[in-house]
Amino acid sequence: MTDELFSNYIGPKGENIDALKRLMNIVLDFHAEWRRSFYKEDRTVFEVSEGYIKKMEDELKKFLERSRSSLPYFHPRYAAQMVKDPPIPAVLAYISFMLSNPNNHAYEGGPVTTEMEMETIDLMVKFAGLEEGWGHLTSGGSLANMEALWAARDFYEGGTVCFSEVSHYSWKRICKILGIKDFREIAVDKYFRMDLNALEDELKKNKAMFVMANLGSTGSGSVDNIEGLLELRRKYGFHLHIDAAYGGFIRSAILSEDYSVLPYSSQMSLKEYTYRQLALLGQADSITIDPHKHGMLSYGAGAVLYKNEALRDVLLNTAPYTYHKKDKPNIGMFSLEGSRPGAMAAACWLTYKMLPPNILGAGKLIRQSLASSREFYEILEKADSFKNLNDPDLDINCFYRNSAEKTIEALNKNTLAIYNRLSVETADPEYIISKFVLPPSIAKTVLPDYSNNSKENFSALRTVFMKHWSAENDFYYIKELIGALEKE
Ligand SMILES: Cc1ncc(COP(=O)(O)O)c(C=O)c1O
Repeated sequence: MTDELFSNYIGPKGENIDALKRLMNIVLDFHAEWRRSFYKEDRTVFEVSEGYIKKMEDELKKFLERSRSSLPYFHPRYAAQMVKDPPIPAVLAYISFMLSNPNNHAYEGGPVTTEMEMETIDLMVKFAGLEEGWGHLTSGGSLANMEALWAARDFYEGGTVCFSEVSHYSWKRICKILGIKDFREIAVDKYFRMDLNALEDELKKNKAMFVMANLGSTGSGSVDNIEGLLELRRKYGFHLHIDAAYGGFIRSAILSEDYSVLPYSSQMSLKEYTYRQLALLGQADSITIDPHKHGMLSYGAGAVLYKNEALRDVLLNTAPYTYHKKDKPNIGMFSLEGSRPGAMAAACWLTYKMLPPNILGAGKLIRQSLASSREFYEILEKADSFKNLNDPDLDINCFYRNSAEKTIEALNKNTLAIYNRLSVETADPEYIISKFVLPPSIAKTVLPDYSNNSKENFSALRTVFMKHWSAENDFYYIKELIGALEKE
């Protein structure tokens, strides 16, 4: 069913490496011909030194040997953090433009890649469900978050900044950098979602300027209640930013070819709650959404989207030595970052040609990740030895080994024993998973029946099922993981 889409990938066993070589040669032949097409009358400036190239080859071989001890992030047995296997179109497009090195800070720095960035952003605005809007790529989610809060801080007239206590660490850091002292960390409920009663208590006390909702928190992938937040925005008035760095592209799984929201179906492998919140993404005032998470790209591709054109003016920056083309977009004039890789804009552009963020492309693959997470959850629900800590809103599962002793200390001991066996802590682990470490206050909310006399942080086991291969062969890799966990 997904074989054609899988052909976008090198594959866990290098299945598609010959295709990549063939396509890469097309890139290199084109590039050589393109270079030669400029200033044909000029003479060559050097002769190739075979001896030196041999030296480079020797160094390259040593370099590749060193790269052997990197981790198999592309493999379904790697389920520790948010890492996707980059698709071939991203690799080809990135290298095509890396070879000439355009810089999307200004139109003159990269005319073709600036247009590709604008087209990618137009697609993302449509995909997100924003009726109107603008934005640009960033180096990642943290920078997108920072720019959105900077723009809001300078656009509105004061007020607090609110986000849940499980939000990405960048938020507190950004408040510090921007000199925002009036930020509030709102408690979460047992689903790791912002407790809207606690938020409303806060809103009654202090006027909020900016409320940030998670559409996929980093630890457990929890999705805040956007429906409830929209009600509160109507009542109290604030800028609603959705940090959809992780979960935003999961919306691909509910979008038709023309980017309208499909009716809910069990084939989405999503809870109806999550489906409803994803459908509302475009109601936000601004959005962080990372191509380099579920948007299929390799690292170096975040994005920020804004609804209100006026926020652009507070970011406006000009410089005497660039931005000379006034009739063309100069993205650097409205972005926190200066030099930005045109190659990455090109990589996004070609990727979304082959894997559009809807049910015909990325969405179909993302459904495989969601199905894997659901399958893992269902298996643990029936098991005696393990317990689910969350009922995943997306595709991040948190769980722990059951213990007769109802203490956090006993659970932590179990987690550590498994983590030491199935993580980066050991050589050649059978599977690579991670931990979700929670302070005692949140542990009390999610595991009220467990005592914690020593006030330890609680560590749960955590998996991120971003690799769409995990659902193949009747969930082979999910069952393998269960087998690995069950071993003493
Ligand atoms: C919800 C969320 N927001 C923001 C970020 C920061 O993104 P980046 O690491 O690309 O800066 C992350 C990263 O994991 C995230 O999960």
